[in-house]
Amino acid sequence: MESVQAIKQRFGIIGNDPKLNRALEKAIQVAPTDISVLVTGESGVGKESVPKIIHQLSHRKHGKYIAVNCGAIPEGTIDSELFGHEKGAFTGATQTRSGYFEVADGGTIFLDEVGELPLTTQVRLLRVLENGEFIKVGSSKVQKTNVRIVAATNINMFEAIKKERFREDLYYRLSTVEINLPALRERKDDIHLLFRKFASDFALKYKMPTVKLVDDAVGLLLKYRWNGNIRQLRNVAEQISVLEQNRIINGTTLKQYLPNAGNNLPAVISTTKPESDFSSEREILYKVLFDMKSDLNDLKKLTMELMKKGSVSDVQKEHEHLIQKIYGEDDQDSIKTNTVVDDLEVLSIPEHTETIENKTLEVEDKYHFAEEIEEEETLSLHDKELELIKKSLERHNGKRKLAAAELGISERTLYRKIKQYDL
Ligand SMILES: Nc1ncnc2c1ncn2[C@@H]1O[C@H](COP(=O)(O)OP(=O)(O)OP(=O)(O)O)[C@@H](O)[C@H]1O
Ligand SMILES: [Mg+2]
Repeated sequence: MESVQAIKQRFGIIGNDPKLNRALEKAIQVAPTDISVLVTGESGVGKESVPKIIHQLSHRKHGKYIAVNCGAIPEGTIDSELFGHEKGAFTGATQTRSGYFEVADGGTIFLDEVGELPLTTQVRLLRVLENGEFIKVGSSKVQKTNVRIVAATNINMFEAIKKERFREDLYYRLSTVEINLPALRERKDDIHLLFRKFASDFALKYKMPTVKLVDDAVGLLLKYRWNGNIRQLRNVAEQISVLEQNRIINGTTLKQYLPNAGNNLPAVISTTKPESDFSSEREILYKVLFDMKSDLNDLKKLTMELMKKGSVSDVQKEHEHLIQKIYGEDDQDSIKTNTVVDDLEVLSIPEHTETIENKTLEVEDKYHFAEEIEEEETLSLHDKELELIKKSLERHNGKRKLAAAELGISERTLYRKIKQYDL
């Protein structure tokens, strides 16, 4: 069995932290088996090396290794990407296509950002994990495959399960063995080591002398939170290597490259995804706007149903969950009484008598008014959304992952929006 040191050298992994060593040891031990592995850890901690190590040290090493970023594939095509499709399965499916699970037969598939998989795809994945079976989109023929799955996620899977975004049974199936990579701030002894390595790599790359940190800069480096972990440290090392004329870097210079470094308050360590932690005003606004939009759509749906059916009690029965969602449980009784009283008076489909026809007009007018407001609202919401997305992408040089994290939405949702707005 290869040693942890040999693996570090082979895969360019820097650091001597005991938690990192334990994670690598686990990867080495589990590699020769076919056990599914879930790699966890914050963004930028180096999760992507683990599935490569596992594949290379397994009997599958001569088979295919396919890495799939589940968060970047649009929801509409992910089943076809993973499992393939039959000719004619959907518009544009002019050829039968093999999916990754067919192509990687005998090899390993790395499902990165597995927490972003749509629920319907999760069902298909569970079947593959349980008995190696899958069905192409648009087919009824069951196919077999022999694929080892390694998945990774930087979200809290228990939260995702609680919010019913991830199937619990699939989580347990995927995480037969879990390998957790420590955050950089938990690996204090490795931080300066990593910086020196990156500084020396960039000095070579840009043909400049290596930048060196003086003591106060090293102190700052160790105290900093490194929310983006090793990825962020590497970026900082690169920027300093390229931009600083004076190759001896003190704390004041380094501070300019570390967002919020001046903030000496104790950091609040969040264990949940930024999507739900309301950590900034922008995120709160963003969430409020979208909740409003969703409520508006629900109301629109209810109104249409009422107009079509003409009976409040029928609609109420059929859409109890929707009414509860909009008004909450506490208001249920008052809503019930109000709407039932209003039932025939306002919303019944009119007979052809003059008085009722007048009422219909009145109802139509009211609805028309509501429609206008709704459109205006949607338009301004879209504008705001577009502006937020544009600004965030600009701030992060077009890096979708960072922009999505800042906006508090998933990378896939951001991808959809970019397509929608043609950005
Ligand atoms: N121990 C390490 N030594 C050297 N470089 C590392 C180490 N760990 C990570 N890196 C580098 O840091 C960067 C981020 O790593 P990686 O892409 O694996 O992060 P990740 O955990 O997959 O993050 P995310 O959840 O955001 O996808 C890469 O450039 C990688 O090469
Ligand atoms: Mg990754």
